[in-house]
Amino acid sequence: MMQAILVSTAVTQRMSNDAMTAFSRNDLEQRDQNDPLADLREEFYLPPDLLYLDGNSLGVMPHRTRQRAMDVITQEWGTKLIHSWVDHDWLQAPVRVGDKIAALIGVKPGEVIVADSTSINLFKVLVAALQANVGRQVILSEAGNFPTDLYIMQGLSAFAAEKVSLKTVEPDQITDHLSNDIAVLLLTQAHYKTGQIQDMKKITRQAHEAGVLVVWDLSHSTGSIPVDVNKCDVDFAVGCGYKFLNGGPGAPAYLFVAARHQTTGLPILSGWIGHKDPFGFSDKYVPAANINRFQCGTPSVLAISILECGVDLFGRTEITKLRDKSIALSSLFIDLMDQHCNHLGFELVSPRKSADRGGHVSYAHKHGYGIMQALKQRGVIGDFRTPDIMRFGITPMYLRYQDIFDVVDIIGDVMAGNEWNKAEYKVQPSWS
Ligand SMILES: Cc1ncc(COP(=O)(O)O)c(C=O)c1O
Repeated sequence: MMQAILVSTAVTQRMSNDAMTAFSRNDLEQRDQNDPLADLREEFYLPPDLLYLDGNSLGVMPHRTRQRAMDVITQEWGTKLIHSWVDHDWLQAPVRVGDKIAALIGVKPGEVIVADSTSINLFKVLVAALQANVGRQVILSEAGNFPTDLYIMQGLSAFAAEKVSLKTVEPDQITDHLSNDIAVLLLTQAHYKTGQIQDMKKITRQAHEAGVLVVWDLSHSTGSIPVDVNKCDVDFAVGCGYKFLNGGPGAPAYLFVAARHQTTGLPILSGWIGHKDPFGFSDKYVPAANINRFQCGTPSVLAISILECGVDLFGRTEITKLRDKSIALSSLFIDLMDQHCNHLGFELVSPRKSADRGGHVSYAHKHGYGIMQALKQRGVIGDFRTPDIMRFGITPMYLRYQDIFDVVDIIGDVMAGNEWNKAEYKVQPSWS
C-alpha cells in the first residue's frame, strides 16, 4: 500500500528530484475537488469498483446515451417510422454529427462526414488521394502503423497492382522517402501502441513540398489532443468514433476531405446515398458535389445518434482544458510508476515529454499479459498489445487524480504478490 508519495510539482515536465513534493492520496482527492472539469465525470455511467483506463480503446457510456437510444428506438423509429428520415433529421445525421466533429479537429463545416468504419473510410480516402495525385501510384506509410491502415493499403494494391504500389519504411525515415513517385503518405497522428504524437504540420508541409498528398489517421487524437487539421493544410483524415468520442462499441467513424479535394474523381464506393440526388433513382451514378459523396449506403441512424451524445459532451468544455488535465494525469501516472514500479521491470515506451505523448501511457513488461489479467481481477482495466505492451488510457473527462494513485497502488500490489504469475495467464487467447 502506498502511503505518502512523491510526485513532481511540474507534472508536465520530466520528473526531476529537486522538484519533488510529498503528496498523499488525500492531497489528490483535494486536487479532484478543485478540478474545474470534475463535474464532467457525472455525465458518464462508470461501473462501481472499476478503474477504467481503456477509454482509448472503447470509451465509456454517457448517461444521456441510454435515453437517446430509447427515444430513437421507441419514438423516432417505433412510432414515426419512415417519416423520421425527414421529421427527425435522420438523413442529415451524418453531416450534422460530422460538423460537430469538424469543430473538434479544426476544420470547416461540410468537410467531415460520419460513416462506416475507420477501415472503410481509409479505403475511400486513399483512393480519392490517388485520384487527386495523377501520375503517381505509391502509397507510403510507416512500419508499425495500426494494422488496419497497413492492411487496407495491401488489399488495395493487391486488387489494383498495376495502379497502386506500397512502400513501408521505419517511422524516422518517412521524410527521406518522399520521392516523386509517392502519391500519398498515410500516417497515424498518435501511435496506437506508444502514444507518440507526430508533427502533423511539419510532415504535411514536407510531403506537400514533395508533391505528396497526406492522409492522417486521427483515431487516437480526436477528443484527446487539440488537432488543427486545416491549419496543418491536411488533405484527408479518418478516425474512430468509439474511443475518446465515447460513441459506443463499433460506433460509426468519420472522414475528413479538404474542400479542395471533394470533387476530384469518382468515389470508389459509389453507393446511392453519395449520389447527387439519391431519391431521383436515376440509373446513372452522379456523385454529390460535396462531402456527401463519401457516404455509400444508408446511414446507421441509431449508432450515429448514440455517437452524437458522446460528441456533444465536448461542447461542455474546451479541448485545451481536457488536454491540460490529460497531461497532468498521465504525468502523475508516470511519476508514480517511476517511484514505485519501474524497478519491477516496467519500461516506459511512451514519450516522457508530455507534448509528444497522446492520450495513453504504455509500458513494456515481459509479463505484461499476465499483469494485465491480474489487474483486471483487481478492477483495473487497461489493455495489452503484443508482444509486451501494457496500455493505460488517460481520459480526463472521467478519470480522477485519486484513480491514478489507486491504479499504481494496485499495480504495486499485483507485483508484490506475484498475482500475474498464474498458469491461466501464460497463454494469451487469440482475442483478448
Ligand atoms: C489508429 C487506428 N486506426 C484504425 C482503427 C480501426 O478502426 P475501425 O475498427 O473503425 O475500422 C483503430 C482501432 O483501434 C486504430 O487504433
